[in-house]
Amino acid sequence: MTKFLSDHLFAESDLTEEQHQRICDLLVLAFPRYADLFRTVSYYYAQPDHRLWYEEADGTIIAHLDFEHRTIAVNGVDVDIAGVGEVAVHPDRHKQGLGRKLMALLQTMLKQQFQVDYGFLQCRDEVVGFYQSVGWHKINQTVHEVDIKTGKTVATNGNALIMPIHKSVDDWDTNGDVDLRGLPW
Ligand SMILES: CC(C)(COP(=O)(O)OP(=O)(O)OC[C@H]1O[C@@H](n2cnc3c(N)ncnc32)[C@H](O)[C@@H]1OP(=O)(O)O)[C@@H](O)C(=O)NCCC(=O)NCCS
Repeated sequence: MTKFLSDHLFAESDLTEEQHQRICDLLVLAFPRYADLFRTVSYYYAQPDHRLWYEEADGTIIAHLDFEHRTIAVNGVDVDIAGVGEVAVHPDRHKQGLGRKLMALLQTMLKQQFQVDYGFLQCRDEVVGFYQSVGWHKINQTVHEVDIKTGKTVATNGNALIMPIHKSVDDWDTNGDVDLRGLPW
C-alpha cells in the first residue's frame, strides 16, 4: 500500500523535542547495535546543522539523514561540503527505493539552497554499494578527522564517498589527503 509521505528540511536549531524523539525512534530501529545511544541522542560524532526526512501521515519518520556545512581541506585547498550522517530507512521499508528517493532529494535541496560543492560521507563496507547506486562516488584518499574519544586528529582509511553538488566529480582533487578539520559525521 502506498502511504502518504511528506518531506521535511529543518535547521537543527529549529527542531522541537518531539521531532528529535521521532528521529531517535527511527535511529534506534535502523542501528540496533547503537540503540542505547540513539535512545538518548539523535546524532553521534559531529552535530549536524540540518535534517532531511520523510514522514508518514501519522508522523512516523521512515527515512532520515542529517548534514553539516563545513569547509574542509582537500590536498591543502578549502572545499565546501555537506558532511552527511545518520542515513537511515525504517527496517520495514528497506529495498523499496526510499533511500534512493531521499538521496535525490538531498542533492536537489543542496543544489538549490546551499553553497556546497559536494556531499561527503564515510560508511561501512556493507553499504558502499547502496551509496554508489544512488549517486555517490568512492574516493581513495586518507582522511584526517578528530577522534571523538580522544579529541586528537587521526588518519583513517575507511570508505569515503562524495556526491557532486555545485562541482563535478572530475573537479575533485584526487591527490593528497582530506582533512575534515573536525569530527566526522
Ligand atoms: C542503507 C539503507 C539506507 C538503504 O535504504 P533502502 O531504502 O533500502 O535503499 P533503496 O531501496 O533506495 O536502494 C537503492 C539501491 O541500492 C541498493 N541497495 C540497498 N541496500 C543496499 C546494500 N546494503 N548494499 C548494496 N546495495 C544496496 C538497492 O538494491 C537499490 O539498487 P537498484 O535501484 O539498482 O536496484 C538502509 O538499508 C538502511 O537504513 N540501513 C540501516 C542503516 C544504515 O546502515 N545506514 C547507513 C549508515 S552509513
